[in-house]
Amino acid sequence: MSDRWYEKAVIYCLDIDTYADSDGDGVGDIRGLIGRLDYLARLGVTCLWLNPIHPSPDRDDGYDVADFYNVDPRFGTLGDFAELLHQAGNRGIKVIIDLVVNHTSDQHPWFQSARSSPDSPYRDWYVWSETEPPDRHQGMVFPGEQNETWSYDRTAKQWFYHRFYKFQPDLNIENPQVREEIKKICAFWLQLGVAGFRMDAVPFIIEETEPGNPNSPKDFEFLSELRQHIQWRKADAVLLAEANVEAAELKHFFGDQGGSANRIHMLFDFMLNGRLMLALAREHPEVIIDALQNTPKLPPGGQWATFLRNHDEVDLSRLTAEQRGEVFSQFGPDEDMQLYGRGIRRRLAPMLGGDRQRLELAYALQFSLRGTPVLRYGEEIGMGDDLKQEGRNAIRTPMQWSSLPNGGFSTAAPEKLLRPVISDGEFGYENVNVTRQRHDPNSLLSWFERMIRTLREAPEVGSGSCQHVDVPVPAGVLVHRADAETGTMLFLHNLSPDEGVVDLGSLDPEAEFPNDVLADQEYPDPGKLDALPIAGYGYRWIRLKRFP
Ligand code: NOJ
Repeated sequence: MSDRWYEKAVIYCLDIDTYADSDGDGVGDIRGLIGRLDYLARLGVTCLWLNPIHPSPDRDDGYDVADFYNVDPRFGTLGDFAELLHQAGNRGIKVIIDLVVNHTSDQHPWFQSARSSPDSPYRDWYVWSETEPPDRHQGMVFPGEQNETWSYDRTAKQWFYHRFYKFQPDLNIENPQVREEIKKICAFWLQLGVAGFRMDAVPFIIEETEPGNPNSPKDFEFLSELRQHIQWRKADAVLLAEANVEAAELKHFFGDQGGSANRIHMLFDFMLNGRLMLALAREHPEVIIDALQNTPKLPPGGQWATFLRNHDEVDLSRLTAEQRGEVFSQFGPDEDMQLYGRGIRRRLAPMLGGDRQRLELAYALQFSLRGTPVLRYGEEIGMGDDLKQEGRNAIRTPMQWSSLPNGGFSTAAPEKLLRPVISDGEFGYENVNVTRQRHDPNSLLSWFERMIRTLREAPEVGSGSCQHVDVPVPAGVLVHRADAETGTMLFLHNLSPDEGVVDLGSLDPEAEFPNDVLADQEYPDPGKLDALPIAGYGYRWIRLKRFP
């Protein structure tokens, strides 16, 4: 049985500033989070991924770092952070943090020094051009909010490169000192006790930017170098990469040395994410099946991280324009719901019209598919979005803990909050909050706890294989299986509203006391598998066999 903890993890992503405010200043903080660790332990989370925790001018929600060796004073102190790691560890919860080293904030002392003089020791830490690069208006990540990737700096009297916003100058990965510094940053946080890193913008970190070449080469070797370094410092530390890449590029990101991944450990499954959205919109699983059948196999030790929603827009850029249109029309029909021409700035619950059946179906499917599931805070109670907020902030509203003022997030006056709590309508905090759902055994939160507990008993998911079971089924139904040396799990998910009956008789010879371990309702005991009923938007997780 594999010993790789991340294959069996349930990752929960949160931003400290919107989670829980312990001192009433309107901004969430580390002590607030420590107070909620028991909640997270009960939910079944085994790993927290914290969005950037460092001091920052906060113009990109912390992804513009001004000091890699500290925590944002609004969140607390390094001492508080060490306490968080200790308290989380006591509850069996690991912590990974965002490692944002493609760029820094333009307020970072390195950039301030670099721009101030050509002789600055930091000048070459960034990417400069003396002349205006002809590809200056190409490669923007935030079209509409950003119109160039090279900007002129009056102080430096040169052009500097920024893949993201203008206030995020890119670091120069070709400079050995920059590489050393990134390793030192990792070593520092590992020494404090983090379990690894969610690496931001990996394809851009390794880009060897050449002015005038919008397809600059990539130095994948840096990933091997970094992996080796962190592994020496902490053998089981992980690198979870944010990289929305083509299937053909996968092997370069994971690397393969002696038959095992030797670069990143995990990769967010953006390809599957777009397809999950399309499949939900079409109420038909065809595109998921295609992904299961046609994605290249990852090297041993390489793992997917599977998600439905994250802190950014739903990124549909890997779909065709027509497919994207289908998802928009179902889940983000108003222009105001869309972002960057490629995505949707909504939470899943409103996208699915608050339909509890469909929400369960979607999350049951996500958690049973290949890889390690990643859940964003608030999804477990079906939180909504606030389209009055700008851009991606629509889905970054404070956690809704109770029906107390500010949803129990903070005791500050509402106008002092970092961002308003969703307070009206179906998704307002009086309707959607943890306390209310805690008292209701039929709530979405109670369901999540059951579902995650069930997953813990099914190590085949995550550690094992994940394969489509190719049998004739009613339209809308996906059948897949997970196999490992512990046994076999079988999964039925009906993406359509129409009930049906699935014939899995061909699997009877393999079955030993097959039984539903999780389902949308009580179904007759499977017994023989040749006539398994499934409700519209229904799902059945069936244990097919277990080895002692
Ligand atoms: C990807 C992050 O997910 C996003 O939130 C951020 O704006 C960019 N990287 C830039 O760091």
